[in-house]
Amino acid sequence: MKVLLVGSGAREHALAWKIARSPDLKKLFCWPGNPGTAGIAENIKGDYGDPDKLAYWAREEGIDLTVFGPEAPLVEGLADSFARRGLKALGPGREGARLEGSKSWAKKVMVEAGVPTAQYRVVETFNEAEELLAEQSGPYVLKADGLAAGKGVLICPDRETARKEARSILEEGRFGSAGRKLVIEEFLQGKEASLLALCAGGDYLLFAPSRDHKRLRTGDEGPNTGGMGAYSPVPEISPDEQENLGEVVFRPILDYLENKGIDYRGILYAGLMLTARGPRVLEFNVRFGDPETQAILPRLESDLLPHLVAAAGGEILPHPLEWKKEACLCVNLVSGGYPGSYQKGQPISGLEELNPDTLVFHGGTSIQDSQLVTSGGRVLGITTLGSDLNEAREKAYQEAKKVRFKGKYYRTDLGRF
Ligand code: AMP
Ligand code: GLY
Repeated sequence: MKVLLVGSGAREHALAWKIARSPDLKKLFCWPGNPGTAGIAENIKGDYGDPDKLAYWAREEGIDLTVFGPEAPLVEGLADSFARRGLKALGPGREGARLEGSKSWAKKVMVEAGVPTAQYRVVETFNEAEELLAEQSGPYVLKADGLAAGKGVLICPDRETARKEARSILEEGRFGSAGRKLVIEEFLQGKEASLLALCAGGDYLLFAPSRDHKRLRTGDEGPNTGGMGAYSPVPEISPDEQENLGEVVFRPILDYLENKGIDYRGILYAGLMLTARGPRVLEFNVRFGDPETQAILPRLESDLLPHLVAAAGGEILPHPLEWKKEACLCVNLVSGGYPGSYQKGQPISGLEELNPDTLVFHGGTSIQDSQLVTSGGRVLGITTLGSDLNEAREKAYQEAKKVRFKGKYYRTDLGRF
């Protein structure tokens, strides 16, 4: 089987690593991939600027399955473009991808489908926002409606900050057209968890739960990032609770989509807040999480590829996914300054000193004059399995120390929250 994986981050490297272990795989291509995927797949240069170009290439190459890593091509409708050409692709069409592409639509779906989520209102003018904020007490949660590269959620401690932020989004175009509408919602407290499901034919298959660490600094402080690391499983979610969450979170959404004639084939990712009053969905994503995927897939015993193929064809395989008992933890090594500006092109060394069973997923690297250098904020994910979370963490941190590049930064408390 020939597989095309779209994307260039550590999530795609982890997916490539898992797919490459499948006996069904004949050849794996990554578009565009990264230096990590280059070792296991053929990287194809290009961007996703032209949706038809990629589908045309896939048909010419005889690709049997395309897997979309990031959300942007899905929100732009690339999966529809593949479907129109009779190509099998994993990822929802444009309509289904609105669950991530429009937060106001996702909230409406959740409420209508009966999925527990924070109370909310949608506003389109600053006046409306101001009136609404005046009725509430802080902290205030503001969410730009559209895709904002993971920066569209603002938690404001006081009303004045919330007013300023609302103004910058609705009147000053801070997030461009993604901020034409603003969701203002109830502030929730609790522990967070990510639950992912493979969905097709109105049914779903759960992945093991995981937790990512979004805050930059040790102590769970500092600005939100794209994720400083992740681990799986999550101690607060027992196997029974996991089944229950699946029925509470995914079943109603899939029923709702089916009623609307939306054939959702792909990953549905629920960001959850486990509150004292029960779980609440903070957000849906329509693709694998990053860094969660790096902590989930090393625990997966089953061959993933047949499941992805079946789902892309509109069905869920009857046999569930099997998981290793071991825990997995991923520490992201990031460039100093991230998530703000940072230097690129710093030489990376020490990878040859790592234990053979340590997994290194490339997120922001490139090759310059035959040397591996940094080229992004989240440079490498150092991932290890252990008999429990403590052991996985200790191993990951021993390994994380061995890798060197100028400005390297990582949190030292992952897995403790
Ligand atoms: P998102 O970009 O939707 O993943 O949100 C980023 C982060 O904002 C989440 O991981 C939560 O930590 C926080 N967040 C989102 N919605 C809420 C909420 N209603 N109450 C409290 N925190 C929230
Ligand atoms: N880990 C958060 C995300 O993938 O959106």
